[in-house]
Amino acid sequence: MKIRRLNINDYWELIRLWSKAGLPFKPKGRDSHGSIAKQMEANPDFFIGAFENEKLIGAVIASCDTRKGWINRLAVDPDFRHRGVAKALIAEAEKALRRRGIRIFCALIENSNSASKELFRKCGYVEHHDIIYFSKRDSNDV
Ligand SMILES: CC(C)(COP(=O)(O)OP(=O)(O)OC[C@H]1O[C@@H](n2cnc3c(N)ncnc32)[C@H](O)[C@@H]1OP(=O)(O)O)[C@@H](O)C(=O)NCCC(=O)NCCS
Repeated sequence: MKIRRLNINDYWELIRLWSKAGLPFKPKGRDSHGSIAKQMEANPDFFIGAFENEKLIGAVIASCDTRKGWINRLAVDPDFRHRGVAKALIAEAEKALRRRGIRIFCALIENSNSASKELFRKCGYVEHHDIIYFSKRDSNDV
């Protein structure tokens, strides 16, 4: 497995991966081609892919608000799971965030996603049961 930064030429492969992995995403909003291109331009090291024989088998997007770092859109191709791909991608995302001075790493995980919860526990993340996520959106597409 090879891990490298993604660029906009990887966009359609990324969409294929998210779809195959069953990961919900926002093709008309923050995951559109134009939006991802802008995000990649601003933070090229935050888009990370895992490849097997040049095929994209896993990906993650890091983000940071200068106070905390976030692990987003983590997905691994179902044919390549249980081989440590997600663990390696999380470690790479943390490295990219550390280079920006970030020391707190966070992820939002649906309560029903046992695989992801177990994965983040394994990677040293602690669950917070006393926090409820609030968000405000200009539309359901964003
Ligand atoms: C969650 C997901 C990213 C895990 O990818 P993966 O490459 O198979 O994970 P890894 O092989 O790196 O697993 C590392 C650890 O996570 C845990 N884990 C991973 N998949 C698991 C599962 N299905 N059930 C329970 N624990 C699991 C295990 O503790 C595993 O350690 P082990 O191999 O020593 O048992 C993958 O299942 C996926 O893409 N799911 C759909 C998209 C998704 O839910 N993304 C996360 C959004 S927050």
